[in-house]
Amino acid sequence: TWRMEDFAEQTISELREKIGDGKVLCALSGGVDSSVAAVLLSKAVGKNLTCVFVDHGLLRKDEGDMVSAVFGPDGPYDLNFVRVDASDLFFSKLKGITEPEQKRKIIGEEFIRVFEQEAKKIGKVDYLVQGTIYPDVVESGLGGESAKIKSHHNVGGLPDYVDFKEIVEPLRYLFKDEVRKVGLHLGIPEKLVMRQPFPGPGLGIRIIGEVTPEKVKIVQEADAIYREEMDKAGMNKTVGQYFAALTNMRSVGVMGDERTYDYAIALRAVNTIDFMTADAAEIPYPVLKTVTNRIVNEVNHVNRVFYDITSKPPGTIEFE
Ligand code: XMP
Repeated sequence: TWRMEDFAEQTISELREKIGDGKVLCALSGGVDSSVAAVLLSKAVGKNLTCVFVDHGLLRKDEGDMVSAVFGPDGPYDLNFVRVDASDLFFSKLKGITEPEQKRKIIGEEFIRVFEQEAKKIGKVDYLVQGTIYPDVVESGLGGESAKIKSHHNVGGLPDYVDFKEIVEPLRYLFKDEVRKVGLHLGIPEKLVMRQPFPGPGLGIRIIGEVTPEKVKIVQEADAIYREEMDKAGMNKTVGQYFAALTNMRSVGVMGDERTYDYAIALRAVNTIDFMTADAAEIPYPVLKTVTNRIVNEVNHVNRVFYDITSKPPGTIEFE
């Protein structure tokens, strides 16, 4: 087996040799893979690397600030960091759109358009960094199940929207757990490295139906409470992926003496080996109860919480 410290040192020196003083561009999502790829490149070429972080406004609570704290000018790495706040653009494009595939398509296309605009400002680029890992290579090659069922906007396909010489994919032979080891070795904060998967279209596919700033806020707050309580219960290390989603359902409830007519949140938690199939995780009832009580008390416009115990198949992990 590879020792990941050796992998990191060797990769950095190979990248340095290959790239020389060429200009490198990286689309940083804040996910594990793109973060580790970015740090390897930053160690190899320093300020010749520019990372563009497109914040589509569909990230989890405080996530954009967390990414900026790590990669921005106050963080430990030597690189050019550009954060683009494109949330207004995404919200306006998504207005009135309810069909899941259409939502995904819009988010994917706008993401590329915004990235492309930033790339143009940078000027000539020699290399484009991709955080592709081994399972992505296999999945896009074989047309993996979820690739067929849903369009994964960040997997597969050669980007032709920026003019560059070559793609560099420093993680293409690594599995996720190896990428994490490399990330920890490179000093990337644990909360970023051990992060659970988060889909490219973000909260856009965890809100059933039309996406609005208000709905994003609701799901962000509910999800933050869920994660906080899972951390407290020590469940964050044992469950594969978990999150809150906003059903588009509203129902009648009562608050004090008043009737409410508000949204229902769905909690999802799954264990999975390869994300192609998954089982609902058995979250202890007291944890579910605390999360539910906190969400209905603390999050405006939520008066009901459901726990989804559907396995995949026939359900999917995400809701859209
Ligand atoms: P599903 O919902 O298809 O999800 O059961 C399987 C895994 O893939 C993630 N997922 C995505 N990841 N872009 C991504 O990068 C996407 O468009 C996307 N859609 C789903 C999902 O979070 C789960 O881990």
